[in-house]
Amino acid sequence: MSFVPRGWLPSQRELENKTVMVTGASNGIGRAVALACARAGAEVLLTGRDETALEAVYDSIVSEGGKTPGLIPLDLRVTHDQPYEELAEELLGAGLAIDGLVHNAGVLGERRALSQTSPESWQEVLQVNITATFLLTRALMPLLERAPRASIVLTSSGVGRRGKAYWGAYAVSKFATEGYMQVLADELGSTSLIRVNSLNPGAVNTRMRRAAYPGEPPDTNPAPEALTDRWIYLLSDASASLHGATLNAQG
Ligand SMILES: NC(=O)c1ccc[n+]([C@@H]2O[C@H](COP(=O)([O-])OP(=O)(O)OC[C@H]3O[C@@H](n4cnc5c(N)ncnc54)[C@H](OP(=O)(O)O)[C@@H]3O)[C@@H](O)[C@H]2O)c1
Repeated sequence: MSFVPRGWLPSQRELENKTVMVTGASNGIGRAVALACARAGAEVLLTGRDETALEAVYDSIVSEGGKTPGLIPLDLRVTHDQPYEELAEELLGAGLAIDGLVHNAGVLGERRALSQTSPESWQEVLQVNITATFLLTRALMPLLERAPRASIVLTSSGVGRRGKAYWGAYAVSKFATEGYMQVLADELGSTSLIRVNSLNPGAVNTRMRRAAYPGEPPDTNPAPEALTDRWIYLLSDASASLHGATLNAQG
């Protein structure tokens, strides 16, 4: 059963007066979620490493009449905390609050047995998929605290809930994402109004899905645009009671 109430659809003002940061906003699910947030009235902070692709998302939002987004180049392979802290300083200095934080960026890594996974690939996947989530959230905490009731959405996966052969570091990083969500939710539950949930998109027709299943006809799965209501619901005040939940976008 869906966590979004039957018949719920975001209005054009659903995220009005909210600032939402989306990681990996250059492509796939992140791009679609960023565009949907802008259509729901949010000021979107677009982060990613592909600046040309981010600029195209920026242009789409502006040409649709959305609020002028922020464009923040950020490569999540960076392992030290400095760029994350610098970004937070800059946003704090600009007087911003962050009402929504969508940790969406992710890499698949090598699809092979753990014993054959290269240490370099293991480290990159863990870094981008979970360590950067920790570093960015840690740095942005003062901005999230500034919002009346901020919502953090972590992106999980089916293989982060039940391990599967040959999903290697990717699956492990998604288990870590679930663990991170539970620990953070428990901590915040007694100290803060910030809420956090994990969302498994299910199979979605993106570059990552096509790389993971090269033999699958791409249109077997929904386009990211067909699912964005789930993210808007989690970011909106309509889901104010959802905290610490493990959610599925499909099925
Ligand atoms: N598609 C599915 O079926 C599915 C299923 C379950 C979970 N998910 C999860 O959904 C999320 C989005 O995946 P997707 O399917 O939309 O994949 P995608 O189309 O490959 O998009 C991945 C996004 O992450 C960004 N990214 C990758 N490495 C980065 C780095 N080092 N620094 C900053 N950004 C980086 C990419 O940026 P670039 O444009 O620069 O590459 C891109 O914007 C991921 O967390 C994935 O694990 C997807």
